[in-house]
Amino acid sequence: MRSQVVIIGAGPAGLLLGHVLHRAGIGFTILEARSREYVLGRVRAGVLEQGSVDALAELGLDADLRERGLTHHGIHLQFEGGRHLVDFVELVGRTVTIYGQQALVRHLLAEHDRLGSDIRFEVADVTPTGLEGSSPSVSFTDAGATTSIDAEVIVGADGFHGVCRPAIPGIRAFERSFPFGWLGILADVPPSTDDLIYALHPDGFAMHSMRSLEVSRLYLQVRHDESIDDWSDARIWDALQTRLGVDGWTLHEGAVLEKSITPMRSFVASTMAHGRLLLVGDAAHIVPPTGAKGLNSAIADVVLLGRALIAALQLGDERGLLAYSDAALARQWKVQQFSEWMTDLLHVHEGADAAARAFSYRSQVGRLEYVTGSRAARQSLAEQYAGLPFTTE
Ligand code: FAD
Ligand code: DHB
Repeated sequence: MRSQVVIIGAGPAGLLLGHVLHRAGIGFTILEARSREYVLGRVRAGVLEQGSVDALAELGLDADLRERGLTHHGIHLQFEGGRHLVDFVELVGRTVTIYGQQALVRHLLAEHDRLGSDIRFEVADVTPTGLEGSSPSVSFTDAGATTSIDAEVIVGADGFHGVCRPAIPGIRAFERSFPFGWLGILADVPPSTDDLIYALHPDGFAMHSMRSLEVSRLYLQVRHDESIDDWSDARIWDALQTRLGVDGWTLHEGAVLEKSITPMRSFVASTMAHGRLLLVGDAAHIVPPTGAKGLNSAIADVVLLGRALIAALQLGDERGLLAYSDAALARQWKVQQFSEWMTDLLHVHEGADAAARAFSYRSQVGRLEYVTGSRAARQSLAEQYAGLPFTTE
């Protein structure tokens, strides 16, 4: 079998790249290890930058987003019992859109169904080979039968635990892991706030987000090794009430529809390209979720790679492909430092002892007072949260 591009992974990055290629008339096959139901069931990110919204609109993939997305003008930073609005519109003239990754994946997949795209779910033993030559291929097992597809280019959109990054010889990693994670819940209750709340509290970070005007999404900082079984719904709501509470405001509780714990990690691969294999999204980089950048970075990579692939496969111009890794990594390192900064700013750090912990906490309050009190600092946060340009053109 032949396909111009084989995309490994049907997460948001792989599914979106399929649409970019379809629009350009480039043939592709998507190989996904999990079932369609599993892919549709994953609850993850929730915030889209303006650049992500624009990219979806340009591809005509924004119908559901327009209907269900919630435009937000800023975020609240909360500490020491006070809540402070960082108003993106006033500071940088931009907004963000709350639209769940789950809804995005559902829409991208529905559109692929409409187009009759070649997406194979539940394939196993996916192995990219011949990456250094001009005709790479991917072998895999589909319904028990081993088969392979020859391609011009292979794209690794297979997330952090995928097979593509490890297939690059000599690849190195830059990483930092955090001793805490996020416990996230989806709750059947209208949001108690208009804008997202990011809160530093002596017990740990908490956040109030949402998925719609009926469903709330909330997060708590927990130790990285905690089990979700130790967190009853009542304990979760108690912790949220304590950490998010301010005078004169009520956090409304509701049935917990889903709950899970996500570890936090910063990770960047030393390269995003090797011969005819190119990486996009979590396959190449991971951020802690505090800056809401994981999904947006995946979309930014796809926009950049999409252009490079169209130039290479339709015009024979390989310059974009050759420049892709450096360009994507340059943007990604700016995103990394912002995500790390937001994470350090808002989480309680263990420190060597009680004195170190107390210093760290007081210093974070100082930083938050500086950020909320300085227009220049707020503007810097707003510029990065609302999203850096996707390309430098
Ligand atoms: P993925 O969404 O991981 O998709 C990769 C796909 O490849 C998956 O469908 C996987 O099944 C498939 N795959 C893997 N291995 C193979 C293989 N060998 N063969 C074929 N297919 C394979 N970001 C935020 O900004 N905010 C959040 O709150 C947030 N929460 C998150 C919670 C969790 C549990 C995780 C893991 C991530 C979260 N993220 C969050 C990050 C965000 O969801 C990711 O950045 C985003 O999903 C990246 O998309 P992707 O398509 O690159 O990778
Ligand atoms: C959501 C996730 C994030 O990581 C974030 O910073 C803001 C919101 C969310 O899931 O809604």
